[in-house]
Amino acid sequence: MCGIVGYIGERPAAPVLLDGLSKLEYRGYDSAGMAVYDGEKINFAKATGRLKVLSELTHDGETMPGSAGIGHTRWATHGAPTDSNAHPHFNKERTIAVVHNGIIENYVKLKKKLTDKGYEFCSETDTEVVAHLLDYYYTGEPLETVAKIMHRVEGSYALGIIFMDHPDVIYSVRKDSPLIVGRGKDGNLIASDVPAVLKYTREVCFIENEEIAKLSRDGIEFFNVDGDLIEKDFKTIEWDINAAEKGGYEHFMLKEMYEQPKTVRDTMNPRIKDGQIIIDELGMTEEEIRAIRKIHIIACGSAYHTGVTSKYIFEGLARIPVEVDVASEFRYRNPILEEGALVIIISQSGETADSLAALREAKAQGVTTLGIVNVVGSSIAREADKIMYTWAGPEIAVATTKAYSAQLIAQYLLAMKFAQVKGRLSEDGLSEMLRDLKRLPDQIELLLNNKGRIQKFANRYIAAKDVFFIGRGIDYAISLEGSLKLKEISYIHSEAYAAGELKHGTISLIEDGTLVAAVATQDELFKKTVSNIVEVRTRGAFVMAVTNEGNTEIEKNADYVIYIPQTNKYFTNSLAIIPLQLFSYYVSVGKGCDVDKPRNLAKSVTVE
Ligand code: G6P
Repeated sequence: MCGIVGYIGERPAAPVLLDGLSKLEYRGYDSAGMAVYDGEKINFAKATGRLKVLSELTHDGETMPGSAGIGHTRWATHGAPTDSNAHPHFNKERTIAVVHNGIIENYVKLKKKLTDKGYEFCSETDTEVVAHLLDYYYTGEPLETVAKIMHRVEGSYALGIIFMDHPDVIYSVRKDSPLIVGRGKDGNLIASDVPAVLKYTREVCFIENEEIAKLSRDGIEFFNVDGDLIEKDFKTIEWDINAAEKGGYEHFMLKEMYEQPKTVRDTMNPRIKDGQIIIDELGMTEEEIRAIRKIHIIACGSAYHTGVTSKYIFEGLARIPVEVDVASEFRYRNPILEEGALVIIISQSGETADSLAALREAKAQGVTTLGIVNVVGSSIAREADKIMYTWAGPEIAVATTKAYSAQLIAQYLLAMKFAQVKGRLSEDGLSEMLRDLKRLPDQIELLLNNKGRIQKFANRYIAAKDVFFIGRGIDYAISLEGSLKLKEISYIHSEAYAAGELKHGTISLIEDGTLVAAVATQDELFKKTVSNIVEVRTRGAFVMAVTNEGNTEIEKNADYVIYIPQTNKYFTNSLAIIPLQLFSYYVSVGKGCDVDKPRNLAKSVTVE
């Protein structure tokens, strides 16, 4: 997500900020900016696009004199990537400058309150409310003011703040967004991540939630939310810059897999209020929802697989018929879109050429389109009639993991909402589903922590030639994604099959020792899938089964079993996919493949 850097010391600040921001580029961004105090006033520069543009604009920082400043790379969430939405943000008099990473969940309410009090906003961001709120509460005592706004702001934040009437200090505070402080010989720094400070210091302190750091040229103090001074330890960083960018993980893919609990929470939490699903941004009335006669889900790759999953949920739960199409097929099959159709386009990047073309085709036929997109301001996000963002943050590894998980959550919420409005989901049913939904992040974490066992198993399959994934219903959708993950990053041929379809051909490929991954999380289909497991096992297959806790009888028929925690039958994909991601990852690592950048693949496919 966004990156923050702050510096106060003996050096000119702007070049330090630009250098630090360049070390945070891996986090993804679409604009950048900085603010530096020059001894009289706070100057600022902002630029849409790459950091290079900001460097050129400021002559590598030379046009911004001063030795105290804050900088930011923005990955758009609220508002498109434009100069005016880029950070820093200011109060009206430009005496308070703020950079922010995170999401202010109650910004609409705060914005209204501040607007009523006469504050004017010049951006579409959630961050700007922080600048005006600081102004509103400012007593002349920055620490007291920062502590005060922490009680008013909900959501996640890491903030870097400069007050012009206290120019020898930078304030910083965090809640649920990362922030570190670096203690250097000729100045002190704040940053979203360690790589940004490593050039200047290896002495780093990790700020905890709701702690405030006060940095001056020659000292750093820490306070709790009550303004009491607290003691904090500094650590010496031993890693090199490359390892630091990946937060200590060997690959971005592993890091992103570990971000899934957070991604799921971020996509879900803002849309659940007082036991109800509120998807305000959809702007769809209950009447409009009731009028939906058919849903078409269109996407590519893994995003398509989330659509295959949600077909079962929209149909099973909301009883709305669903067709799922691969975008490159949809656009050329002269599709029939009748009145009452809703076309849902799912895309992480929001730029996939075929998905975009499918969206345009649907719009040309006059039906309502809804984009489920991760990148704010992307083409699909801009062109779809309705938009629902997944809050996965930028994904670096080509093989998607966390964006996939976020797409599933967005569709669960949508299907539940539609079912409720259509009178197919009672209040009790909804509460039960929400309870299970809220448990998913912890359950995902539990499965991730089991990685050692899966790594050992994966190491036995690095020389595999063919692997088959089988399942029925939602388990078939999970198999599609499990198979794609494996072939994408390990170059092992794999196929996903609807388990009942195996005997119509594919079963002839099963030989002694062929690995078959069988997914069996759907109770009503369990026995049927077990029969298919028996069919392949009697022909020599080695069966790895993924099933729900408690289904121990599967051990009679499978050679290796992975259990997933109990959840609602519609949510099992979110759990069952975790061991399959880990399996693919460790096979790829074991083979020495380029995990994050597999050959021939691109993260964003902008050609047909
Ligand atoms: C590429 C990526 C996949 C992704 C697909 C669709 O093939 O490697 O991970 O699922 O494109 O991308 P989108 O950005 O539209 O979700």
